Amino acid sequence: STPQDLAGLKVVVSAGPTREYLDPVRFISNPSSGKMGFAVAEEARSRGAEVVLVTGPVNLVDPEGVRTVRVESALEMQSAIVPEAQEADIVVMTAAVADYRAAAPKGEKEAKTPGDVTVHLTPNPDILAGLGEGQAARPGRVLIGFAMETHAGVERAALKARRKNADFILLNYPTREGTAFGGDDNQVTLVRPDGSFEDWPRLSKREVARRLLGEAVRVRKVQTSS
Ligand code: C5P
Repeated sequence: STPQDLAGLKVVVSAGPTREYLDPVRFISNPSSGKMGFAVAEEARSRGAEVVLVTGPVNLVDPEGVRTVRVESALEMQSAIVPEAQEADIVVMTAAVADYRAAAPKGEKEAKTPGDVTVHLTPNPDILAGLGEGQAARPGRVLIGFAMETHAGVERAALKARRKNADFILLNYPTREGTAFGGDDNQVTLVRPDGSFEDWPRLSKREVARRLLGEAVRVRKVQTSS
């Protein structure tokens, strides 16, 4: 039987892509399937946690026993996560949040015109970084991020963990066969803010979720005993 090592804890998970509309029918997004985040939510639930899953548009059904909140844009994702994260014990940001949104989305569909067009984009807020900063920071809460890098992965992920006040980051690679975007497996490297890291083998996303939550529990123990 599954150990109930997350009983009494609240786990907040983000999943999927975000969608940034340019007009009512066109958007910027990415191929995130949501499978990694859904696996984390399901695994946390099976270990006794109260789980809130905030997901962008994906073709997956709501996991049983998990409060699932469906959003589209990064701003909507942020509005849903920030209040939930206030009382969370563990926050896992698997979502592939779009870095930019239209500065001024059009209210109506733009007619096509000959020639090039220019779209003015503005940066989205970094939801994970925001949770670790100032008023929003909560000592004792474990913050976990994901990062996709094509090069200098470990260094960049460690820097990201420090910058975003994450306890650790799972680094994955967009180009490896059978893993990351859309796949059922993932091959990740756990990277800590101090630059130490562990390469995990190719595993099912559920197994990655299992190990991720195991590491989160260890981080909590270290924090509460110091
Ligand atoms: O900076 P980068 O996008 O590589 O960081 C990835 C991590 O930060 C992921 O955990 C992702 O969910 C989170 N993130 C976020 N808000 C953003 C961009 C990324 O929470 N706007």
